[in-house]
Amino acid sequence: MSAPAPIPTAITRMLGIRYPIVVAPMFLVSTPALLRAVAEAGAIAVIPSLNFRTHRAFAAFLEAFPELPFGVNLILKDNPRLAEDLEAVVRRRVPLVVTSLGDPGPVVERVRAYGGRVFADVVGLRHAKKAAERGVDALVAVAAGAGGHAGRVSPFVLAPWLKEETGLPVLVAGGLATGRHLLAALALGDAGYFGTRFIATPESAADEAYRRMLFEAGPEDVVYTDAVTGVPANFLAPSLERFRQGAKPWKEVYSAGHAVAFVRETIPAGALVHRIAEEYHRAKAGLP
Ligand SMILES: Cc1cc2nc3c(=O)[nH]c(=O)nc-3n(C[C@H](O)[C@H](O)[C@H](O)COP(=O)(O)O)c2cc1C
Repeated sequence: MSAPAPIPTAITRMLGIRYPIVVAPMFLVSTPALLRAVAEAGAIAVIPSLNFRTHRAFAAFLEAFPELPFGVNLILKDNPRLAEDLEAVVRRRVPLVVTSLGDPGPVVERVRAYGGRVFADVVGLRHAKKAAERGVDALVAVAAGAGGHAGRVSPFVLAPWLKEETGLPVLVAGGLATGRHLLAALALGDAGYFGTRFIATPESAADEAYRRMLFEAGPEDVVYTDAVTGVPANFLAPSLERFRQGAKPWKEVYSAGHAVAFVRETIPAGALVHRIAEEYHRAKAGLP
């Protein structure tokens, strides 16, 4: 079967990919295998540097990863590994860096110097403007309903608002799962940023219990709380109950966003990218 037709946008041109689908960085979930499968299907995935237990393991991954589009997520706040992980990113000339929780200025300077791209993830206008001043290439608008650390503003408002106010390309994050969502995202911004939908791929590191809970959960089971990490994030209610008994955040207290509504089976990541692109084309043709 041939791949769906390309979907060119400002973001695909910037990253040299076929579809404006960015598979979001997910702590303890994203893997090198996921990055590879997504890239081979014509999209791009991002991995948190902290998914590798040590800086050495992270650097070894960078050395071994093939010449494909991929991204690394650097957490800027309270991250003792930031400086050395950034050095390794610069050495490997990682094509895309996504920053979260902090000032992207120093990262922009280093990454732009070798021709890499920097996206800053933001939940509101104040941080978006700061990131724009620092010279980021695009903003990830993390809206209400996103997995992980999520915002409070509806994606319908957040993405086009940040785009109008900053003039930067915007990736829509929060609640995207299907080709219809991608179509909507391209009406509001320049690409879709998908997290939750890719947790139940065979390439992810999510364990069986996590997957089962996703398949059974609906959006009403997603709870927004700052009790787990100090920053407001979305978690699955049944696993959140375990937190009170001392379960480990992210590892045993499972994060997911409202997109759980559409996670009902395991699909290989590459096939999922193509399915979303195909659904996009069909949905677009079917618009009134
Ligand atoms: C399990 C999980 C872990 C996450 N970990 C991170 C992370 O380490 N760094 C980060 O920038 N975002 C993280 N996120 C947020 C995602 O990058 C992205 O913003 C979000 O998943 C998009 O919303 P969606 O889940 O509705 O698709 C995480 C999300 C999930 C579901």
